[in-house]
Amino acid sequence: MSRFDIFRESGNPMFNENKLKLGIFGPNVNNSCSMTLADTTFKPDFETNVKIAKMMEDAGYECIVPVARWRGFGGSSNFNGRCMETYTWAAAMAAVTEKIYLFCTSHVPTMHPIVASKMLSTIDDISKGRIGLNTVVGWFPKEMEMFSGKKMEHDKGYQYATEWMEVVLRMWSEQFFDHKGEFFEIKDGWQEPKPSQSPRPVLISAGTSTKGREYSARFSDFNFGYIESMEHATEWTNFMKKLAWEEYKREINTFTTGFVVCRPTEKEAKEFYNYYVREQGDWEVANIICDMFGIESSSNSAEFLTKARENFIGGWGGWSFVGTPEQVADEMIKLSKTGVSGTLVSFLDYMEEMPYFNENVLPLLEQAGVRNPIKEDSTITEPILNA
Ligand SMILES: Cc1cc2nc3c(=O)[nH]c(=O)nc-3n(C[C@H](O)[C@H](O)[C@H](O)COP(=O)(O)O)c2cc1C
Repeated sequence: MSRFDIFRESGNPMFNENKLKLGIFGPNVNNSCSMTLADTTFKPDFETNVKIAKMMEDAGYECIVPVARWRGFGGSSNFNGRCMETYTWAAAMAAVTEKIYLFCTSHVPTMHPIVASKMLSTIDDISKGRIGLNTVVGWFPKEMEMFSGKKMEHDKGYQYATEWMEVVLRMWSEQFFDHKGEFFEIKDGWQEPKPSQSPRPVLISAGTSTKGREYSARFSDFNFGYIESMEHATEWTNFMKKLAWEEYKREINTFTTGFVVCRPTEKEAKEFYNYYVREQGDWEVANIICDMFGIESSSNSAEFLTKARENFIGGWGGWSFVGTPEQVADEMIKLSKTGVSGTLVSFLDYMEEMPYFNENVLPLLEQAGVRNPIKEDSTITEPILNA
């Protein structure tokens, strides 16, 4: 039986039968994924997050992935500057939700792996087996400099993350162990409680570089990433599956992210996009982020640069799902045919826009067979104990 079968048999939503899984990205940070000054009722506070999560559970979404952020990017919105820390966020969310799978997003250089493994085991208990881990090495220099004066060099970050994850996995599965590596020395490592999930909490990571993808292939169940086209989505998924199998004899899936503007008519959807992206977009922060990613005007056309900035403003560079319910559903159905397992989505205003999406797009996805109608017994009630 493969690791994925074990996850599926335990009722883990991340491995359910839905061909296109759905989650949301970044409800714990100000502006969530939209770099804009447009009006919204969205607040990155616990009360709002609970309301969103309940709405998602009622509609059968699979997961929530929070953003880990330690300071804002500047601009008039100070985009993502206000951020609920994700382990404490997940613990609290776990206590008030029942079905949805939650992730912690953890910058590995900011925390000892023993502290992380124990916090995750604790949240595993609170959530009855609904917590997973998104590891990130940190790419935003100013936030990483707050911890140790300088950001770890990129590839070294993944070396560090590899050893960090090896320690976490041993804490979860072994009784007593010694470890001496380049970054950690552990004598007689021991931890209780262990996670109840079998084989372990779901691991995700979003590396896109060579080292980042290698890291995902080695440890993660899902490699998260941005897509450039439907063809690119297929190539990326095939690449990751081949890499994981050839190098590590492991299975892996892929998962992307996008933003939704869904309205009864195409005209309304496009007008709203125009309002929050082109008119009210925080172009200052989009420029700051494009500069950090090295998207330069000297090597790209003006048209490409505008599109790149618009995508960042629209939803952190994710795929755009803009249109009528039929148009949005069609795009999602196309995505499900690429081999990608699912997409995170973001809305400018979750409380105002998500109900319309749930009522009008989800039934179309069900009709197309890429999602099943919600099952009443989809709660993970009795976690299978670790083998
Ligand atoms: C869906 C998604 C979520 C991410 N979440 C975070 C995050 O919360 N914090 C962070 O610092 N980086 C985050 N990243 C950035 C990645 O961890 C990674 O650094 C980036 O994709 C570049 O890949 P590389 O590290 O292989 O160069 C995210 C990326 C994606 C695609």
